[in-house]
Amino acid sequence: MDFQQIFGTKPEAEATAPGRVNLLGEHTDYNDGFVLPIAIPQRTKVELGFSPDSQHHFYSQELEEMVSVASCDRTPQGFASYIFGCIQLLAKQGYEIPPVNLYVTSTVPIGVGLSSSAALEVATLKGLRSLLNLPLDDVEVAQIGQQAEIQYAGLNCGIMDQMASSLADTHSMLFLDTRTLERRTLELPAGGEILVIDSGVHHELAAGSGYNQRRAQCEEAARLLGVKALRDITNPQVAQSLPEPLCRRARHVISENNRVLEAVAGVSVNRFGELMNASHASQSDDYEVSVPEVNALVDILQKTPGVFGARLTGGGFGGACVALVAEGKSAIAIDVLKQYSELGYSGQVLVAAK
Ligand code: GLA
Repeated sequence: MDFQQIFGTKPEAEATAPGRVNLLGEHTDYNDGFVLPIAIPQRTKVELGFSPDSQHHFYSQELEEMVSVASCDRTPQGFASYIFGCIQLLAKQGYEIPPVNLYVTSTVPIGVGLSSSAALEVATLKGLRSLLNLPLDDVEVAQIGQQAEIQYAGLNCGIMDQMASSLADTHSMLFLDTRTLERRTLELPAGGEILVIDSGVHHELAAGSGYNQRRAQCEEAARLLGVKALRDITNPQVAQSLPEPLCRRARHVISENNRVLEAVAGVSVNRFGELMNASHASQSDDYEVSVPEVNALVDILQKTPGVFGARLTGGGFGGACVALVAEGKSAIAIDVLKQYSELGYSGQVLVAAK
């Protein structure tokens, strides 16, 4: 069923936004740090028109679900919460948002750390911008999207995902300073291409997850160390003075920022891979956001000839792994998945492209 079949009219505006895979710089964005994502080919598309009544009507093609909600209602659950949050935040900023019909379709996988929610927020906001001629730039779109995630979906996230979805493309990495929002695009290390494999363990990051707890621990660590954010510390040894587990949490963030800065200073593809491997160890041991299945998959990838490096990507607690593999060698995924299945797990390739 398309927009017209659902709503009885043609859409008057549309917008799309991609998911992203983060290559280095995990759990650094809410510490004012550095990140290095790239857009993935999978995108979320939003089509819009004006609602004939006083309610918004949101339809998800994948879920085959319609949610009708008025602006004065409570926040709906599920996919509609992100859309509703975007609309409410625009209204709070003083924009007049009439009731809309909104149709969503997406190829971004959900719950694997590739930013399906940011893609929905950014596509929604860009769709509303187009429908209503709103004077918003792409950075403002990302900032409102992040607030929708925090205030309406309960995930106290940083700004990486929304910035990547709003600004990045699939050809170059987006090096972003999340404190200043200064950014530049960089080529992937010469000789490498990206492979993303889903571990089959899906996560739920919002309210009640370890994600918000990790963020709170980082803020407490920064407070104890007397800095505004962990970004302000460059020597991981400084974290040693903190009690457990804050010491390890802070060590991850400080060392991870250093890895991003080393990578963007221009390193070989081999060194870039080593930095990814070190990032995984740090996420697993110090930050404790990995799970056994993901560790097993990363381990297989790291031992496979043609792989420069591999790590858990995204918020963690399950999800996908990103590997940097020798150009033209993504077919190694077949053997990797075979070994993974011999352990009793089931994974799948999500991105295999430069
Ligand atoms: C999620 C959040 C991001 C970021 C990553 C971890 O994707 O939305 O802001 O914190 O986790 O790097």
